[in-house]
Amino acid sequence: METPPPVKKPLPSILPTTLWDFPSQHYGDRMQGDQAYVGATPSYIVWNLLSRYTKPGATVVDPFCGSGTTLDVAKDLGRDGVGFDLAPSRPDIRQADARKIPLPDRSADFVFMDPPYGDHIRYSDHPDCIGKLSSLETGFFQAMDKAFSEGTRLLRPGAHLAVYVCDFFNVRKGFSPVGFRLFSLLEKRLEAVEIVSVVRHNKDLLKGNYRKAAVEQNFYLRGFNYLLIMKRPRL
Ligand SMILES: C[S@@+](CC[C@H](N)C(=O)[O-])C[C@H]1O[C@@H](n2cnc3c(N)ncnc32)[C@H](O)[C@@H]1O
Repeated sequence: METPPPVKKPLPSILPTTLWDFPSQHYGDRMQGDQAYVGATPSYIVWNLLSRYTKPGATVVDPFCGSGTTLDVAKDLGRDGVGFDLAPSRPDIRQADARKIPLPDRSADFVFMDPPYGDHIRYSDHPDCIGKLSSLETGFFQAMDKAFSEGTRLLRPGAHLAVYVCDFFNVRKGFSPVGFRLFSLLEKRLEAVEIVSVVRHNKDLLKGNYRKAAVEQNFYLRGFNYLLIMKRPRL
């Protein structure tokens, strides 16, 4: 039997409002990053950010590179992607801790981060994985503060940094407003440019039992992620 041709997903376009929704995780007829990677960033987000805030040839750094979505989108747009992760998933991602990136000061035109936002996903067994820290405790925010300090160090004056993150809720453990707390940490160092809400298409949101429990037990399923867009002030 012949294999059917790959489905072509719509190409992205620059979105004009602060509410972003996408028809699929990827665009075009190839994948960016790996759809099977738990926690992969929808590539439309990276495409929109790089299209708005960088020019061809720009250096784009992702310190939490995961399956490499940022690198693939950067390549599509003619930007120079540089990816790091504690547990690299492919050869073009270098091994490093987001709190200590081996790049010189002011060498990046854009920094994108989609960090862990709680301890509900097991990314790796590396002891320094931020995904082992609960966002209900201060250790998570201290770790992210260091990653933001490092991200700021890398930015050229006038360059942007964006953080894609979700609040945390667990029926037994409670709620952590991760987006607001991370935004306060970012604002200590960088200028706020925008806060965008990105609609989540997590399959759990469609599960009847999850939806029923959310209504009956009076809690909410996470319907959006924050995209916190910041800028390093010019000198
Ligand atoms: C949400 S995933 C990133 C997804 C990625 N943007 C993609 O599209 O595939 C978070 C990543 O952060 C990495 N990570 C966790 N702690 C880290 C640390 N201290 N330094 C660098 N990477 C870390 C994990 O290994 C994981 O790959």
